[in-house]
Order: sequence, then structure tokens, then C-alpha cells
Amino acid sequence: MTQAVEIFEVGPRDGLQNEPAFISSEDKIALTEALAGAGLLRVECASFVSPRWVPQMADGAQVVQGVTPGAAQIYALAPNLRGLQAALATPVGGVCVFIAATEGFSRANTNISLAGAVERLNEVIAAFKTEAPEGVRLRGYISCVTECPYDGPVEPLEVARLAELLHRAGCDEISLGDTIGTAYPEQVAGMLEAVVQRVPVDALAGHFHDTAGRALANIDVSLEYGLRIFDASIAGLGGCPYAPGAKGNVDTELVYDHLITRGYEISGRPDRVKLAQAARLARKILGRAEGTADEI
Ligand code: HMG
Ligand code: MG
Repeated sequence: MTQAVEIFEVGPRDGLQNEPAFISSEDKIALTEALAGAGLLRVECASFVSPRWVPQMADGAQVVQGVTPGAAQIYALAPNLRGLQAALATPVGGVCVFIAATEGFSRANTNISLAGAVERLNEVIAAFKTEAPEGVRLRGYISCVTECPYDGPVEPLEVARLAELLHRAGCDEISLGDTIGTAYPEQVAGMLEAVVQRVPVDALAGHFHDTAGRALANIDVSLEYGLRIFDASIAGLGGCPYAPGAKGNVDTELVYDHLITRGYEISGRPDRVKLAQAARLARKILGRAEGTADEI
């Protein structure tokens, strides 16, 4: 079976948000454009969250406004009404709302109980429906779908309940996050078993951090369940400021090579050489590689 799988690029957002030294808007823009130029269809490059909470993402408006995305759609995170309005004042192609499957992570990441988060999310989605320009898409993230750094193992039925809630509320896509990157394929299977009963599989994406090196195995099990969208981060950048120890998202190039080896086509047919160039640029921006701009 050959079927197209999309890589949803989150490097300029999830990959950079945890970096302690501020990365210039110009560098964030250059990285986003390199990824879009490589043929990835969607690139998440900003968060309209509190700069007190995530200082690295304080320049979301400058970044989204500064990007020339070509054919790619630009996505940005919004945690509340203020974030939504700030995002919609820019030319975003998609807005992402986010919620956690556990009390502990909800409070650590967004300073609110899970019930409060659901209420806030419903408010944001209602406003999105009246205020978003035609064609702007709405993505919902669920964090800690198998394991929470504060509350431990997560009940699959709770993830399914939240996924259905997001879907019914109006998210056209729900990204299921292994936030701390420790899930085993069996846990992912157990979680998906519950979620696919409640939400159409083509509205689901897998978001695997790769702390334990099992992200590709988790992608494989998700493919078996019919998922065809996977989030990835160029050069494997990343980590969540409120998930201690969590490493980067699974590396975009690794996912690309893995899927191609398994006989899948990648939506948008990204250019492998340009992906490698974008990875070099990402490492250079973070000072993790020798090399000059000419090599990029
Ligand atoms: P709070 O402290 O409860 O809210 O934070 P507040 O209303 O008291 O606001 C605190 C300050 O932020 C105030 O400023 C507000 O004006 C300001 P001050 O008066 O102190 O100067 N503020 C804002 N500024 C700009 N834009 C806004 C905004 N809202 C308030 N939208 C809040 C609540 C939700 C705002 C906060 O907790 C927050 O921003 N959290 C976001 C944390 C975050 O971005 N985490 C990473 C993204 S999620 C993730 O990475 C997981 C994911 O990758 C999937 C996975 O891996 O699982 C998606
Ligand atoms: Mg993440």
C-alpha cells in the first residue's frame, strides 16, 4: 500500500521554544522559509503565548508577518482569546489550541485546571469560528497522551474524550502528543485504540518527542492505525519548557527517510537536499554546527 503521509513541521515553534538564548526573529524567519522552501506543506513557527511563560516565542507577530511562506501554510499556537486575536491579526494559515490530558500538566503548562482549560478552549474555539478568515484552519493538540511528567500513566479513555471534544468543537485536526517522549508502541496502540473509536482517523496526527528513541516505532504503530500526519522537528530540535527532561520532537529528516524506506510518499514531495540544508541552518542558528552560511 503506498499512501501519502504528511510531515507537519514544528521545528521553528516546538523546536525553538525551549532555547534559553533568544533567537532573532530574522533567524526564525529564515528557518521557517527554508522549511517551506523545501516543500513541506505546513510549518508551525510561532506561539502567541505569554512572554512571561515562554520568552523565546515573544516575537510571534514579527515572525509570522516576516515570513514569505510560498506554498506552505504557516501555523501558530494560541492559548487564550488574547493569543487567538494576536494570531488572527497576522496572515496565519492555521491556529493551534492546546490542552493536556492530565491535571498536572494542565496546571504546569497553562496555569489552569483541566476543567478550566476545557472552558477556556471552548471560548477560544467559539471566537475562532466567528473571527477567523475563511480558509484558516484550526488544529488542537493534546499533551501527555500516554504519560505525564507530573501525574504518571494516562488513561486512554481520557485522551479519547478530549480528542472527541476538540473534534466536535471544531478542530479539523487533533495532534496527539507524547510530550515527554517516553511512550512505548504498546502504549501508543492502547491510546489509539480508544481514540479511533471516537474521532475519524484522518483527523488525527501523531506528535512524538524522541527522548527514549522510540518515536519511529510509535510512528509505525500509528501508521497501522491509519494515521497519515506526523509532526516532526528539523534537526530534532526541541523540548517543552514545562515538561522537564523532554527532548526534541522526532527529527524531520529521520521521519522522511523512514517513511520513504517503508514505501510511503510524502505529501508535497519535499526536497531531501533542501531538508538537509534547513537542518544545517537550524544547527547553525543554535550554534551547534561549524560551517558557514555558504554551506547552507
Ligand atoms: P497566567 O499567568 O495564568 O495568565 O498564564 P494571566 O492572564 O495572568 O497572564 C500572565 C501574563 O501574561 C500577563 O502579563 C498577561 O497580560 C500576559 P503581565 O500582566 O504579568 O505582564 N498574557 C499574554 N501575553 C501575550 N499573549 C497572550 C497572553 N496571555 C496572557 N496570549 C497562559 C496563562 C495560558 C497565558 C500561560 O500559562 C501561557 O502562556 N502558557 C503557554 C505555555 C506554552 O506555550 N507551552 C508550550 C506550548 S505547548 C507544547 O509545547 C506541547 C505541544 O508541543 C504538544 C506536546 O508535545 O504535547 C503543543
Ligand atoms: Mg511538543
